[in-house]
Amino acid sequence: MIIKELNLIQYRNYLNENFSFSPGLNVIIGDNAQGKTNLIESIYLVSRGYSHRGSAVSELIHFDKPDFSVKATILKDQVTHLLSARSLNGKKQFLLNGKTTDREKTNSVLTTILFEPGDLKIVKEGPDKRRRFLNEEISGFNPQYHYLIKNYEKVLMQRNQLLKNIQFNKSLLSTLSIWNEQLIDLGIKIIRQRVAYLHRLNREAGSLYQILCQGKENLTLYYHNNIIDSLDELDQIKEKFEQKLKNFEDQEIAKGSTIFGPHVDDMLIMIDQNDARRFGSQGQQRSAAIALKLSQIKIVQSQTGSLPVVLLDDIFSELDEKRRNSILQLIKENQSFITGTEDISGSEGMTKKVITIRNGKEL
Ligand SMILES: Nc1ncnc2c1ncn2[C@@H]1O[C@H](COP(=O)(O)OP(=O)(O)OP(=O)(O)O)[C@@H](O)[C@H]1O
Ligand SMILES: [Mg+2]
Repeated sequence: MIIKELNLIQYRNYLNENFSFSPGLNVIIGDNAQGKTNLIESIYLVSRGYSHRGSAVSELIHFDKPDFSVKATILKDQVTHLLSARSLNGKKQFLLNGKTTDREKTNSVLTTILFEPGDLKIVKEGPDKRRRFLNEEISGFNPQYHYLIKNYEKVLMQRNQLLKNIQFNKSLLSTLSIWNEQLIDLGIKIIRQRVAYLHRLNREAGSLYQILCQGKENLTLYYHNNIIDSLDELDQIKEKFEQKLKNFEDQEIAKGSTIFGPHVDDMLIMIDQNDARRFGSQGQQRSAAIALKLSQIKIVQSQTGSLPVVLLDDIFSELDEKRRNSILQLIKENQSFITGTEDISGSEGMTKKVITIRNGKEL
């Protein structure tokens, strides 16, 4: 799939701009604060349904304007689609070929893989960043998973509320088992999906890391769950989960929150035998983050059968030439967008277009 054209109206610092793109490499250059990331963000938004910067709708609209619109002309399997995102009464709305559509569906018409400097947090920061990474990436090719997470979060919230209420009204304790059943049922489904995904991720991110560091070190990922001691016990997870909830019932009530489940799980990122979060150098952490994110290209490709569009915001300047070339090699079949203050991409054998942005306009 490729984006042929893009029209931005009142989106961030763009008033009304039309772009046409190369089916290969698109290098977006310009000084700081000119609109490069805004352009990448608009593509991510129309594909994934939300801003990768976590911005509210009101922040996406050009200052002092009432609404924004992003329209992308997509070519997928030789069919042209018009995919658009716009704001309406303070909410986002998505349209496919003129008809409103769910935000979960836009992704299958335009699938994007983004890497940006903030992704270093996946390696450097707390478990919530890694859970979010897993949730976003699995949802990226499996919309069912997105609903699973939403349902789990609802159950979790209601169960936590009930635990708090039980502190004051012991008779409510009899209703806890209904929520336990749902928590266990949805929780196990999430854990199983993540474990299966990690199996695949280990292979793809592992080999990509090898390429990035010229085979000197190994990247290995482990799923860490607080219900079972090791993944060998995955078959018994239901009984163990039930047991934990029973054994820790008093503690959960005292705390007013759920102690066990996929909402507290983590993914350990090991470089050789060391935890990359604590012992990795800056360069190792960056390579690990790139490997985790860009291994999605292959995974998505094999899950969906189409080549995702690759967005690389502001990362080329941080990498040496060898790593840059390895990445270009990896994405040579995909349409890609690479931003920077200058063009350092090289381009052997690739169809390439350089787009210069100044103050929300293409020069
Ligand atoms: N809602 C908005 N309306 C108008 N302008 C906005 C809005 N949101 C952000 N901007 C402007 O967009 C500019 C930042 O754009 P962007 O983040 O795309 O820069 P960039 O080209 O990626 O820069 P850098 O190289 O520093 O990353 C800022 O000048 C900011 O004021
Ligand atoms: Mg930027």
